[in-house]
Amino acid sequence: MCPLDESGEWTIVPALYSTAVGAGKLQGRQGDQYNLAMLAQQRIALIGAGNMAEAILAGLLHGGQLTPTQFIASDIVQARRADFARTYAVTTTSHNREAAEGAQVILLAVEPQVLDEVLTDIAPVVGPSQLVLSVAAGYPIARLTRHLSGTRRIVRAMPNTPSTIREGATALAYEATLSEGDAATARAFFEPIGKVVVVAERLMDVVTGLSGSGPAYVFVMIEALADGGVKMGLPRETAQILSAQTVAGAARLVLESHEHPGVLKGRVASPGGTTIAGLHELERGRLRGTLISAVEAAARRSVELGMQT
Ligand SMILES: NC(=O)c1ccc[n+]([C@@H]2O[C@H](COP(=O)([O-])OP(=O)(O)OC[C@H]3O[C@@H](n4cnc5c(N)ncnc54)[C@H](OP(=O)(O)O)[C@@H]3O)[C@@H](O)[C@H]2O)c1
Repeated sequence: MCPLDESGEWTIVPALYSTAVGAGKLQGRQGDQYNLAMLAQQRIALIGAGNMAEAILAGLLHGGQLTPTQFIASDIVQARRADFARTYAVTTTSHNREAAEGAQVILLAVEPQVLDEVLTDIAPVVGPSQLVLSVAAGYPIARLTRHLSGTRRIVRAMPNTPSTIREGATALAYEATLSEGDAATARAFFEPIGKVVVVAERLMDVVTGLSGSGPAYVFVMIEALADGGVKMGLPRETAQILSAQTVAGAARLVLESHEHPGVLKGRVASPGGTTIAGLHELERGRLRGTLISAVEAAARRSVELGMQT
């Protein structure tokens, strides 16, 4: 599955860039079109046909490189199976084991509370020829491994809600023994729905506190910015468009320029001007300290919740 060059080295084309990540070493490369081609002949099982499975399926089918006949989706809810069959023309089943059997890639996309039961059911048909990807929040790799003794090819992923419009942020975690080919396949799964980073698994709670919960923080910021516009006389709808597009545009500028956001902020704030007056108010209101505390509190809560399950 993983492409080898003449020297036997694993290669990926185009290798757009590498990402230095939490574990302190280089892991993973971008190049989704190529990676998607790697998935082209594979049978892919989606266990749980909910919102996240749908986002991923839609993303994978979007470019036209993968076909609906490669997919089988299982769900206990008939209406969800019918939705998937009608909207995406994929095969569906109410039996998770039937979906998992013979699939080269298995996506676990049920709620964490039911995952123990689902894993017990599918474990007999999961072996070393299969790669397992789990998006179940707070469900560690060690627990997946305990259930799925047939394979160590396991990746834990933490996507977020903007994945449903292909603007997600997903963190992947896996053991050091995972092959580069499997890591590339995992990236290929999530790159169509947004940005992908790789982190050490111990940082998944921080990811939950930042990009997992983060959309809610940003919704509050968008609402508050719009409120400011309304307070100063703009119609609500106009204020909301300006507010949301300002957040989206500023975020894209950070991602595309690769500049430190402080540098970009400095460019907007001219001496004695309007922006520095506004920034001063943000400092008075401790916006930065509050956002740091929000990420910290959510990450700590994620750790607590993980200990309860
Ligand atoms: N949505 C997100 O933004 C997001 C972000 C990060 C991670 N995740 C993770 O993604 C997973 C799925 O989340 P979601 O938002 O897609 O949830 P969801 O929309 O509720 O989808 C889960 C689907 O699985 C079905 N299901 C429940 N038990 C099952 C079983 N035993 N066998 C087969 N299907 C079963 C559910 O049916 P019922 O409705 O009847 O339970 C539902 O249709 C969760 O583990 C969550 O932690 C989601």
